[in-house]
Amino acid sequence: MSILEVITSEEAGFCFGVERAIDMVLEAAGQNKDTPVYTLGPLIHNPQVVEKLEKKNVKVASSLSEIESGIIIIRSHGVAPEIMEKARAKGLKIIDATCPFVKNAQKYARQLVDEGYQTFIYGDKDHPEVKGIYGSTDKQAIIIKDKEDLDRDDLSNKVGFVAQTTKSPESFRDIISYIITEVKELKVYNTICNTTDVRQSSAKKLAEEVDIMFVIGGRNSANTTRLAEICSATGTPTYHIETANEIDRTWLKGKNKVGITAGASTPDWLIREVIQLMNEENKETKVEKEENEIVEEKAEEVVEEVKEVSEE
Ligand code: F3S
Repeated sequence: MSILEVITSEEAGFCFGVERAIDMVLEAAGQNKDTPVYTLGPLIHNPQVVEKLEKKNVKVASSLSEIESGIIIIRSHGVAPEIMEKARAKGLKIIDATCPFVKNAQKYARQLVDEGYQTFIYGDKDHPEVKGIYGSTDKQAIIIKDKEDLDRDDLSNKVGFVAQTTKSPESFRDIISYIITEVKELKVYNTICNTTDVRQSSAKKLAEEVDIMFVIGGRNSANTTRLAEICSATGTPTYHIETANEIDRTWLKGKNKVGITAGASTPDWLIREVIQLMNEENKETKVEKEENEIVEEKAEEVVEEVKEVSEE
């Protein structure tokens, strides 16, 4: 096997919003050792990080009804205002770690509704971020997952749009160009996070250059899954893995260049573990190579000796 060249995508791992949320949780847990600290839903879509936080006494509650008292952390995806109100009414201390970009999407969606626009949210209706944006419009917005969900006959004259922060800018543009000729007034807030776009383009570029791609991140992480889809679409064999343990070394057979990228909720240590595994693979290959060279050298020596003997 040849020595592997390992290239990590320029943009991989925690984004600003996730890093900020993790810092806020760790600070809350560190400063309130005697108070229960909860996140409403797993802080990020990465089971390994959630497990580490549990060890630091940060529990995951799936709903407010599971929390009697203590601190509740709102994760970077945000929540609907009604959840905040309920938490306040319960007397819980709220630490709001909603990503500021998600907050913007919530604010603009609300604004559109208040200004009388028929408001659309481009996103996945089951994603927590979209539920939060929808909730901030008092459930008056319409969620669409693609342009096929748009019914031209139901469009009003004044239409407004926001998008889930992790959606692809191309597909958002597609929807907007589809609708632009249909309505009198269109107001669009591009709420797609630049991080996602940059990450996706650099992953695609890297996938086009390498023989195999590893996309590291939670299987429940929408942005990691999207990265894997993008890399796979380039035709390069792509594996979505959560940890280095999942790598089957036979996947590397005949490969020279390995590309690595990771979702916005993937910590650096999980990325480093994969890089380390590749380095170990290289070490073993090197040793194997050196051993083969010694065997070959020895064989050559024997041949030489045999030749010398037969010439005598
Ligand atoms: Fe925020 Fe963008 Fe990350 S919206 S949570 S910085 S992907």
